Amino acid sequence: MSTSISNQTLVHLAEKYGTPLYVYNFNTIERQYKKLQSAFEGTNTRFFYACKALTNINVLKYVKSLGANIDCSSINEVKLALKAGFPAKRILYTSNGISFDEIEVAKELGVYINIDSLSNLRKFGEAFGDQYPVGLRLRPNIMAGGNLKISTGHENSKFGIPVDLLDDILTIVKAYDINVIDLHIHTGSEIKDVGVFVKGIEVLFDLLPHFPHVKVIDLGGGFKVPYKKDEQGTDIDLLAKEVFDAIKSHPNALGRSLEVWFEPGKFLVSECGTLLTKVNVLKKTKTTRFAAVNSGFNHLIRPMFYDAFHQIDNISNENGEVGNYSIVGNICETDTFAWERPMNEIKEGDILAFRNAGAYGFEMASNFNSRYKPAEVMVLNGNDALIRERDQFADLFRKQIEVL
Ligand code: LLP
Repeated sequence: MSTSISNQTLVHLAEKYGTPLYVYNFNTIERQYKKLQSAFEGTNTRFFYACKALTNINVLKYVKSLGANIDCSSINEVKLALKAGFPAKRILYTSNGISFDEIEVAKELGVYINIDSLSNLRKFGEAFGDQYPVGLRLRPNIMAGGNLKISTGHENSKFGIPVDLLDDILTIVKAYDINVIDLHIHTGSEIKDVGVFVKGIEVLFDLLPHFPHVKVIDLGGGFKVPYKKDEQGTDIDLLAKEVFDAIKSHPNALGRSLEVWFEPGKFLVSECGTLLTKVNVLKKTKTTRFAAVNSGFNHLIRPMFYDAFHQIDNISNENGEVGNYSIVGNICETDTFAWERPMNEIKEGDILAFRNAGAYGFEMASNFNSRYKPAEVMVLNGNDALIRERDQFADLFRKQIEVL
């Protein structure tokens, strides 16, 4: 049985549940997880799903059922992970810029913690000394990632403790006898070049002799998925080979048994997702032909925020004559999804499918212009189920307090 979802089925789902609609094919998540498992088979590797990409509780439960662990970026994501049934020892809290209170809660909950500032490291030492093992989120000064907004390891990045502050790190670690078990980096998102991960290993391995208790090298997430038809994603088999070659041959690895952790977000859930929208209006101008859909950057902000490319298909007219259209939303901002994109002929009422929208799609959605967030549907083995209702009018002012 094919586990991909046909355009005909997508049109049917749009009719059944309405639009705009996020549809997630859970079989694709399984496929992606299995790619990781098979590439890294026989190695000492753990994968933590970076759930900031998509936190629907059903996604979390499904990822858990596959055997993955989970990486969280806020204390509420940690609580969601627990709610989804992950035991504490399968949860990692990789923090950035957070208040120490959250670290205290994370410690109470018993999850792994990566600390990303000297100030929180000191507070951690003062509060817990050597009582609780901890990881260090480091900034390796490596430039990587699809664009500057999603590059997190370079010299001007806010993320992590700069590796050049090693002396300060060691002073704090020694002063409080902090039990550092994990060295972490995350250099960015959409990293195609596996050499970036090897560079990361070199940076971390230079530090290794200073941290005798370290058991884990955490290389973060950022594996690229193809957004365009002719694009290649990260070669995961090559990644596995290069990473373990680099580790095995490094002199600082000798005599140490190390685990490697990764935190893929996009890789696991990007391709599973499709945003279905309906064309409200066609408008011809001197420069282009607009097709305005019942969505906007309130539902999928990646094209506007990162200039990200998403494949868009007119699934109502797959064989229509191809012409150029500019696909825009209905928000009172310039919310251009695509400019002069070749598309099969579009008529008002057609369903346009935005591909690769599983990661950072719904998750970055908002109620801007007092519009509703879309509904979400999962499909597993050909069966569909609603996993989030579309907002209703009352949701728009649910938290407001009328004092006048
Ligand atoms: N680990 C850490 C510590 C991270 O900060 C991130 C992503 C990941 C893992 C997962 O990265 P991924 O495998 O998903 O690339 N909203 C942007 C991406 C921002 C990623 C932020 N951190 C986008 O839509 O392209």
